Amino acid sequence: MDKFTCVEDIGDLRQAVAEALEIKRDRFQFTGLGRNKTLLMLFFNSSLRTRLSTQKAAMNLGMNVMVLDVNQGAWKLETQRGVVMDGDKAEHLLEAIPVMGSYCDVIGVRSFARFQDKAEDYEERVLEQFIRHSGRPVFSMEAATRHPLQSFADLITIEEHKAVERPKVVMTWAPHPNALPQAVPNSFAEWMNAADYDFVITHPEGYELDPKFVGAARVEYDQRKALEGADFVYAKNWAAYTDPNYGKVLSRDRAWTVDAEKMALTNNARFMHCLPVRRNMIVTDEVIESPRSLVIPEAANREIAAQVVLKRLLEGLN
Ligand code: CP
Repeated sequence: MDKFTCVEDIGDLRQAVAEALEIKRDRFQFTGLGRNKTLLMLFFNSSLRTRLSTQKAAMNLGMNVMVLDVNQGAWKLETQRGVVMDGDKAEHLLEAIPVMGSYCDVIGVRSFARFQDKAEDYEERVLEQFIRHSGRPVFSMEAATRHPLQSFADLITIEEHKAVERPKVVMTWAPHPNALPQAVPNSFAEWMNAADYDFVITHPEGYELDPKFVGAARVEYDQRKALEGADFVYAKNWAAYTDPNYGKVLSRDRAWTVDAEKMALTNNARFMHCLPVRRNMIVTDEVIESPRSLVIPEAANREIAAQVVLKRLLEGLN
């Protein structure tokens, strides 16, 4: 594997999950693979889980790890060509990327949608520049339109906890005070469709996602109807995708909050969320603390997902 930005890059999902579960049984079995190899983790945006789980995965493989927070302690980076750099940005990404590539063997990048230019976000211009100019295998630690490490961990978690071969998985929009990118819901939809689960998306009108990611999923605007018989409930907020409202918050309606009454409509479903989560906006205390909540094992599987990806990238170097 020479990059990891979307579900296609991981190939056969059954094999990927099997590899993940094998690594989970003994996460130190490939500790020689990363010897004398350096991972650079580059963050344009904040992180708790991605930062720690990916670093831990790299250490499990014997790698050295460097972490750079672009907005704290590094030069501010210009990302657009043709800009007269007379403002606060001291360095251009087109010099910074090959320089950073010269110090490492693998690069992980976190760069969220900025909601300033939909084309720039959906063409993944920042991530694509790293792929083009770094000379190194690049993996996404959440980009503008996808969060594949999260989705891979979500898939592993569902496979570990499902009671039927083809579970009903419902992704529900839920309210949040701020405008959040569509990366997690886009990516989750992409992976659930690839896994061929019975997959339903529910959200208020105006929150339709890019059809490219919705794929074969059923879209149901009635949240209660969507939740009926669900085996897994995946809650997430996202800002509007469709024009002219791209990047806007259209609703903070707490009637969409996942609570015990909604979970009672399901097939005793497991509750999932990628975290961080706004309690009593997205989900009530009662539901997230219930024995049916998977948020902690889901986050723990981020280490395993990252380790499979890093292992495959390292194998691609040799
Ligand atoms: N789920 C997730 O990516 O968490 P962080 O933003 O804390 O990395």
